Amino acid sequence: MKIGVTGATGQLGRLVVGKLKEEGLEEYVVALVRTPEKAADLGVEAREFDYNNPNQLVGALNGIDKLVLISGNELGQRATQHANVIEAAKKAGVKGIVYTSLLHADTSTLSLAPEHLATEKTLKASGLPYTILRNGWYTENYTGSVAGAMAAGAFIGSAGNGKISSAARADFAEAIAAVVIGEGHQDKTYELAGDNSYTLAELAAEISKQTGKAIPYNNLPETEYAKILKSFGIPEGFADAIASWDTGASNGDLLDESHQLSKLIGKPTTPLAQTVKEALAGLK
Ligand SMILES: NC(=O)c1ccc[n+]([C@@H]2O[C@H](COP(=O)([O-])OP(=O)(O)OC[C@H]3O[C@@H](n4cnc5c(N)ncnc54)[C@H](OP(=O)(O)O)[C@@H]3O)[C@@H](O)[C@H]2O)c1
Repeated sequence: MKIGVTGATGQLGRLVVGKLKEEGLEEYVVALVRTPEKAADLGVEAREFDYNNPNQLVGALNGIDKLVLISGNELGQRATQHANVIEAAKKAGVKGIVYTSLLHADTSTLSLAPEHLATEKTLKASGLPYTILRNGWYTENYTGSVAGAMAAGAFIGSAGNGKISSAARADFAEAIAAVVIGEGHQDKTYELAGDNSYTLAELAAEISKQTGKAIPYNNLPETEYAKILKSFGIPEGFADAIASWDTGASNGDLLDESHQLSKLIGKPTTPLAQTVKEALAGLK
């Protein structure tokens, strides 16, 4: 059985390949990547695979039984890109697709939701067996700002008192591996999120606790937060999007208490304190 993993040179994809290798499946894993040279260190077969190039995709999927379709990162182009992949998978005789969607994609107010929902619909309409993993936020989305918060003396955002049930990327990668290897996941949709939820004020308190420095959470209006992100050099459209996602968080878009992720991986999700600890260790 060959398992194709798209986005295998990305942060989540690398972890997925690692988990499948841990399960002794390296000879069955095929990294489907834009730049095969970047996949050399993965230690698995790599094939060129660009979501924008429909002509290339069918051949690259030759012999693949299960396909892990990790959503791309080019916002606004993904519904078409993912549809290209699904169409090619059908032509190539792929027997099932695992797709990484967005938490509560059908009800979420996040600007990311429509592209994911469109892909879910395309996937279901394809007639291919599928599993949809609606991933909540990676804790690393926030802990990636720890250095900035330390430098500024405050953690900023516009998520208000919104509760966030994030989990570590590694937890989501493990869920993908569990679904690929396990049975009983065909034509199912899972809402995946961390076991424990927190507000950004609680995250700031955890950073303060671990560093011994007072790092308060400073909640800002969405436009103000976007302005600050732009001043850091983040492109305008992306800064606006990040700030709007925090507003979504304030409305509960990132909250989920169904514990489906820990059930899938058979253990509790990585605690917030652990991911903060790792982020702080990375600063040394
Ligand atoms: N749940 C969350 O909190 C969250 C946060 C951020 C993103 N996401 C979503 O989850 C995905 C995986 O997260 P991540 O952290 O691993 O993101 P990432 O590190 O940015 O990886 C994205 C991967 O998608 C690949 N890709 C992008 N466009 C492609 C194309 N046209 N053809 C083929 N491959 C393409 C990239 O290829 P290269 O390696 O060649 O660049 C990369 O490997 C993201 O792409 C995004 O859809 C989720």
